[in-house]
Amino acid sequence: MNTPAPKFGYELKATEGKARRGEVTTAHGTFQTPAFMTVGTAGTVKGLTPDQLRLTGAEVVLGNTYHLMLRPTAELVARHGGLHKFMNWPHPILTDSGGYQVMSLSGLRKITEEGVKFQSHIDGSKHNLTPERSMEIQDLLDSNITMVLDECTPYPATHKEAADSMRRSMRWAERCRKAFRNRDGYGLFGIVQGSTYEDLRKESAEALIDIGFEGYAVGGLAVGEGQEVMFEVLDHTVPHLPEDKPRYLMGVGKPADLVGAVARGIDMFDCVLPTRSGRNAQGFTRRGAINMRNKRHQDDHRPIDDQCSCMACTQFSRAYLRHLFIAKEMLGPVLLTIHNLAYYQELMAGMREAIAAGTFAAFQEEFYRLQAGGDI
Ligand code: GUN
Ligand code: ZN
Repeated sequence: MNTPAPKFGYELKATEGKARRGEVTTAHGTFQTPAFMTVGTAGTVKGLTPDQLRLTGAEVVLGNTYHLMLRPTAELVARHGGLHKFMNWPHPILTDSGGYQVMSLSGLRKITEEGVKFQSHIDGSKHNLTPERSMEIQDLLDSNITMVLDECTPYPATHKEAADSMRRSMRWAERCRKAFRNRDGYGLFGIVQGSTYEDLRKESAEALIDIGFEGYAVGGLAVGEGQEVMFEVLDHTVPHLPEDKPRYLMGVGKPADLVGAVARGIDMFDCVLPTRSGRNAQGFTRRGAINMRNKRHQDDHRPIDDQCSCMACTQFSRAYLRHLFIAKEMLGPVLLTIHNLAYYQELMAGMREAIAAGTFAAFQEEFYRLQAGGDI
């Protein structure tokens, strides 16, 4: 007998100030929040097997509608039993809706009320992504958390540009809610837009709450506005979001962005930074970022981070990592991706423990003290 899928849900377990410790339940298991979701754009976290990914502490992976609809296609993934089976990741998956990637990656493109028409960056083929089609694709992928189709308003934008763009995204959000196939263990998240304008962010949050979603994302940030402005937007957006639903800051960020956003009430993040910069020799540590190609590592027998328990840090020296990058060996990007992801997961776990223990304020101070410590 099949046990019924659990309902999609968010349980708030503890708070300290605005910071929240919680748990999200899906048909493919739970994940702890604040959570960092590893980016697995094209049905793979570049360079890592799912076993290696799991060992970094990852509990939830992000996939992209845009990439998967073009190659291998959502229909093909569905024929293979969905993205969990196709990529052999049996744990929760969130998919982004495609609009953001169309604008940043595709060739010719045009947004209308209907949706977005674009040409593939792979073969130039023409496609039409509507709110309804985005819901259908994410359903075919069997994504546990579906994101509404939205427009990430380019920065900077005038108040009128931001309002027009946000209001169209809200009309799309309503179409997404209608088209989404509601089922136990699966949820649909709305995305707040409104650029840097306080009145528009409030209007957007209220419009989404009227429609009703299983979670609420803050979009249109980390687009060049800088950390200070991003934090200001969070300060006047997050208070409008429901307390009993998860909150997701899209496309963020650097370690210090994550700590500051958790302090402002965010529960979920995704970013290519640990994986992309890992492939490019940038390593993240408790004491800041380091470039593994730097000559100063050439005879350094220490690990990347002596406090880190990842495979790269427990088995290899900085000197070896540097050699791999200089010699362009593929193990270099693999090991540094593993380390960076383990560092991000350790940072999130540290924040979760601190919020639960009521020591998050002290955790933040220690985090900034170490990061400011400089070169290591
Ligand atoms: N990723 C980063 N920012 C955004 C956004 O505003 N919308 C979507 N859909 N994805 C994002
Ligand atoms: Zn490590």
